[in-house]
Amino acid sequence: MIMWHPGCQRGVCYDGSMTANRSQVKFPKKFLWGAATSAHQVEGGLHNQWTVWELENAKRLAIQSPYRFGKLGNWSAISREAKNPNNYVSGRAVDHFNRYEQDFEIAKSLNLNSLRCSIEWSRIEPKEGEWSQEAIDHYRAYFKKMKEMGLEPVVTLFHFTLPVWFADMGGFEKTQNVRCFVRFAEKVLNELGDSFKWVITVNEPEVYVTESYRHGEWPPQKNSRVAEFRVLLNLALAHRLVVSRARGAGSKFKFSIAKNSSYIYAGDDAWLSRFSAKLFTWRRDDWFLWFVAKHCDFIGLNYYFSDRIYGYRAHNPNYQLNDLGWDMQPANIQFVLERLSSRYGLPILITENGLADGTDEQRQWWITETIRAMSASTRDGVKLIGYLHWSLLDNFEWDKGFWPKFGLVSVNRSTMQRTPRPSAKWLGGVIGRLSK
Ligand code: BGC
Repeated sequence: MIMWHPGCQRGVCYDGSMTANRSQVKFPKKFLWGAATSAHQVEGGLHNQWTVWELENAKRLAIQSPYRFGKLGNWSAISREAKNPNNYVSGRAVDHFNRYEQDFEIAKSLNLNSLRCSIEWSRIEPKEGEWSQEAIDHYRAYFKKMKEMGLEPVVTLFHFTLPVWFADMGGFEKTQNVRCFVRFAEKVLNELGDSFKWVITVNEPEVYVTESYRHGEWPPQKNSRVAEFRVLLNLALAHRLVVSRARGAGSKFKFSIAKNSSYIYAGDDAWLSRFSAKLFTWRRDDWFLWFVAKHCDFIGLNYYFSDRIYGYRAHNPNYQLNDLGWDMQPANIQFVLERLSSRYGLPILITENGLADGTDEQRQWWITETIRAMSASTRDGVKLIGYLHWSLLDNFEWDKGFWPKFGLVSVNRSTMQRTPRPSAKWLGGVIGRLSK
């Protein structure tokens, strides 16, 4: 165990300074300190169901932006970007495909020792059953570099994007299509698996089905509870098949999904509030985990939100909002970690956690609160594998486009110049001290 004795009462100082102290922040020696990305959001140059949809919808999204974002406190700062149709087209994204070495160097300079990324299915299998050797070679070189630089890869297989041919077949709505994903996963694990061990099969299954099949906001823009349910079950099936086949072949991989979890709690003592909070927690967390937990070696946790429930509705305090207007309660990650750990008995890797903060005024506070909460949870017995901040770079935030800035590193998309934000440099210092 490494111990750090920072000065302030609850463990980590906002300025990251070291002074004498009362409580200790401790993490295991092999703790993964890193950041996360996904191919579609950073790589650029893709052709998948999202890029097709973006071109069809960019104008509409730009026109609707005042209705969608006009109430945000920072509207005047973002409106130019949000009203521009180009904002909604991923295009070159932040050119991570060509600039990954530079990005790895930046990660190293921030003392990170791990990166989460996704392998883009539409690159590896551009046509059904046809593998692209070029793409496989690209990712081979990518992971080789990552390892050489001392960055432990955490690899996602499905992060919301699908090859167009697969989407045209009905995507995950059809159970018989799951075999295509399993075939892709096996190909990737066989060809590239010697460079990594941490594998996330499916990123945020509930977010994907809610946005794509219930709210109809993301491709294929359906509003069907039946389709939503079917896709969710098929994603659980996909995960289980990939894992059981790999385990059957005696693999060394460590598998999980990336589970979006919120801390849902009753705002008062009324039985309805308490009952609703429990019910929502079960429905949002345990329902899906129940299908896959036995097929997980750890739990990948994506934490962004808490929901305070009065009666049967969420009424959040909204004391501190991020650029997207999301209520921020970072410290509550502790309760999510403790609940998941005691319920499923698995180690936990925080696979995403962060905020949209273009001015970088809140990121340091958010991370400080989070590190304190992580440390407290480990004292309470949670086996924490690592912390991967979302995101390494500013990137393409799906139907909101490029204006939300989640990066530790800002990117000027005209020049593609990367600049670590002050909070990133501060975090680098904290990791440096914690890893001594
Ligand atoms: C997703 C990311 C997304 C982030 C911020 C997660 O839901 O996995 O792709 O950019 O949250 O919204």
